[in-house]
Amino acid sequence: SSCPALPDGFDFTDPDVYQERVPLPEFTLLRETAPVWWNRQPRGVAGFDDEGYWVVTRHADVKEVSTRPELYSSNLNTAVIRFAEHMSRDQIDVQKLIMLNMDPPEHTRVRQIVQRGFTPRAIRELETALRDRAARIVREARDSGSGDFVTDIAVELPLQAIAELIGIPQQDRARIFDWSNKMVAYDDPEYAITEEVGTQSAAELVSYAMTMAEARKECPAQYAGSAADIVSRLVAAEGEGNLNADEFGFFVILLAVAGNETTRNAISHGMHAFLTHPEQWELYLRERPATTAEEIVRWATPVVSFQRTAAQDTELGGQKISAGERVGLFYSSANNDPEVFENPHVFDITRDPNPHLGFGGGGPHFCLGKSLATLEINLVFDAIADLTPGISLAGPAPRRLRSAWINGIKELRVDYG
Ligand code: HEM
Repeated sequence: SSCPALPDGFDFTDPDVYQERVPLPEFTLLRETAPVWWNRQPRGVAGFDDEGYWVVTRHADVKEVSTRPELYSSNLNTAVIRFAEHMSRDQIDVQKLIMLNMDPPEHTRVRQIVQRGFTPRAIRELETALRDRAARIVREARDSGSGDFVTDIAVELPLQAIAELIGIPQQDRARIFDWSNKMVAYDDPEYAITEEVGTQSAAELVSYAMTMAEARKECPAQYAGSAADIVSRLVAAEGEGNLNADEFGFFVILLAVAGNETTRNAISHGMHAFLTHPEQWELYLRERPATTAEEIVRWATPVVSFQRTAAQDTELGGQKISAGERVGLFYSSANNDPEVFENPHVFDITRDPNPHLGFGGGGPHFCLGKSLATLEINLVFDAIADLTPGISLAGPAPRRLRSAWINGIKELRVDYG
């Protein structure tokens, strides 16, 4: 049937529907009854003038849309559902300078350049520094006895990883972290951060990164040989395409958004999953399966959805989609699709294969930071297993981030044991 029994006025872009249960039981209903579903929405909600959007819930369909940029554009509209609500027209235009919102061939050019900073070798070069950093963060938390896992540990490592990747000097990091946190702080009234502060933080970060790029271009020798100098790789490499200073500035903004809150919530959800599935924690302590990080990302699915816009009339899962209509890719649903995952609602760190879509559906925009993110997850749980294996829940259920886009935990009280 094309009429699933969704409650009247149900809206997948409404942060409040995600407060109680993620993944939503409504996803199961849609996968079974209307896997490509038109969700009506009053005009003007979420910053869009159209009357609704498609909700794509099956694993196979999310992959199909992700891998066909000629049919499903990232550029015709911002990529992120409910982000536009917080932006003016000018800001939406600025969004298009970020590769996440580009289509081929512009996207292909930028992606080829930035990929040089994310080769397996580049990521391996970060490992020692990040392993030390993870141990230091966990040791400090342990010495405090108990606290909020999110602020003590989960927030820290991803910020440090990006700072390490770009080579941000120690003395600048507090400032950079402050801007980064303010930029991702929309949607949750508790952050009490205004749009103006968010925008201003983004502007400061762009300008900082541009200055960095210029300095690197002027005196490349000064940075030669530093562990993972992505800046030199991207802006000052000889004989290949490079990013100009503006492009580099926007790339750093993207890193601060894409690599920050995502990895933070994978780590927080991973910890919460371990603490509520003690047999999995026992297994991890004994064997540290190499499959762990992928299952944590599937389980957490930190990015609930991204969206595309149909570039031409097309068809998906038997539905006719018209040019200009928005198409929401619900990774959170795809990652629990029983067509692909046996016992999807079981947290199993030995799950293998694990073709989850937490890092995207495999097209040109597939997460650039996947190997860095999985490295961070492995390092942080290694450090916890080594240093605080007796960690336990303290206090009430975790407090969730209020967002329809990020599956986030705001606070998770623990005893470090
Ligand atoms: C893109 C998820 C960590 C950098 C994406 C996409 C998703 C995603 C869903 C969009 C894929 C698509 O549209 O097909 C995640 C998750 C992470 C994570 C769940 C952590 C567990 C990181 C990190 C970095 C990063 C650590 C970098 C430091 C990027 C970039 C893009 C991206 C640059 C845009 C790629 C493009 O447009 O070509 N990520 N990400 N991500 N991610 Fe990640």
